[in-house]
Amino acid sequence: MATPLNVAVIGTGMGRYHMKEFVETPNVKLVAVCDLNRAEAEHFAREYGAERVVTDYRELWQIPGLDAVSIAIPNYLHAPVTIEALEHGLHVLCEKPMATSLEEAQRMVQAAEKAGKRLMIGMSQRFRPQSLAFRGMVERGELGEIYYARSSWIRRRGMPVIHFAPGGSMGRGSWFVSRERAGAGALFDIGVHMFDLTWWLMGNPKPVAVSANSFRNLCNAEFERRGIVCDVDELTSALVRFENGVTAFFDVSWVAHQKDEMNVRIFGTQAGFEVYPPTIYREPHWGELHTDTVEIKLVEEGLNPRRHFVECIRDPEKPMIASGQECLNVMAVLDAVRRSAEAGHEVAVNL
Ligand SMILES: NC(=O)c1ccc[n+]([C@@H]2O[C@H](COP(=O)([O-])OP(=O)(O)OC[C@H]3O[C@@H](n4cnc5c(N)ncnc54)[C@H](O)[C@@H]3O)[C@@H](O)[C@H]2O)c1
Repeated sequence: MATPLNVAVIGTGMGRYHMKEFVETPNVKLVAVCDLNRAEAEHFAREYGAERVVTDYRELWQIPGLDAVSIAIPNYLHAPVTIEALEHGLHVLCEKPMATSLEEAQRMVQAAEKAGKRLMIGMSQRFRPQSLAFRGMVERGELGEIYYARSSWIRRRGMPVIHFAPGGSMGRGSWFVSRERAGAGALFDIGVHMFDLTWWLMGNPKPVAVSANSFRNLCNAEFERRGIVCDVDELTSALVRFENGVTAFFDVSWVAHQKDEMNVRIFGTQAGFEVYPPTIYREPHWGELHTDTVEIKLVEEGLNPRRHFVECIRDPEKPMIASGQECLNVMAVLDAVRRSAEAGHEVAVNL
């Protein structure tokens, strides 16, 4: 049996799911849990068998034999904590969005290269069985040329702080609605998932320009009543142009007078699909329309971001799903969406 991989998790909101997946991965030891909220860190350390509890993440760097950290704390801490961890020789799994700016994300990738350690971003939507199955179809060329995509994640009532229970498992901090601490609102919280999944299922085309708009209309009075400053988007829509005219449109909302909706649709010359419910549309012969509900064979059952991260550490040659380097493209598009919405016109993607 190989030596166990020693990991620590920073953050007990979303981080609690990281802990669960780590301890369920063979030969991985959760050695420490870190959170400013000591009581919660102690609770999860007990639940998942970690010996150490710390409230200052810098104490983790002193733990002998620690191999990796998983970072699930507010967005503005992603870049500084990732860079420090890499400088201390640790592999890093960092939650989405990668950072609050493209420049920070670039520094994270440089730090990983310099340290020779693996950096992965928690793009969890890619790990759903249907996402993995559809990505396989795209890689095998079964869609022909992919020329268009559209995706949506509309929440009727899903504003962090307001609609998420304070005692719940995530979405609790008021940092979510601060541009400085979150980077953006719905765009950086769920837009990052929708754009990333769409882009990855399109086969990673090179983005060149974005035209976008953002809105904040429905919760202003409620935030004022609670004395919380909200200066981020609650809804963003964006048209992204890629090389060779390939195009994608996505829109996301935390709150809207609309029904809840989540989908990604990919349009190819030979076939198209939608992710929810997993369906493939084709016309093998002119006029012969086939609509196939996809039986998602769980070939990759059990694959999750934490297990994949561990496998990539154990095998440094293993291609990583959602590496820091790859996710720079996503950050570049989010950065362009934010700039376009602020400027009121189309902008180039800085890559
Ligand atoms: N991949 C996904 O699907 C997914 C889902 C939810 C959240 N996330 C991401 O995970 C991150 C955390 O989100 P959340 O919903 O858990 O937020 P949250 O506000 O509910 O919890 C954040 C936790 O971080 C702790 N914290 C804050 N500053 C800290 C510090 N300096 N040191 C140690 N702990 C600190 C807080 O005490 C809190 O327990 C965000 O970046 C979010 O985007 C990803």
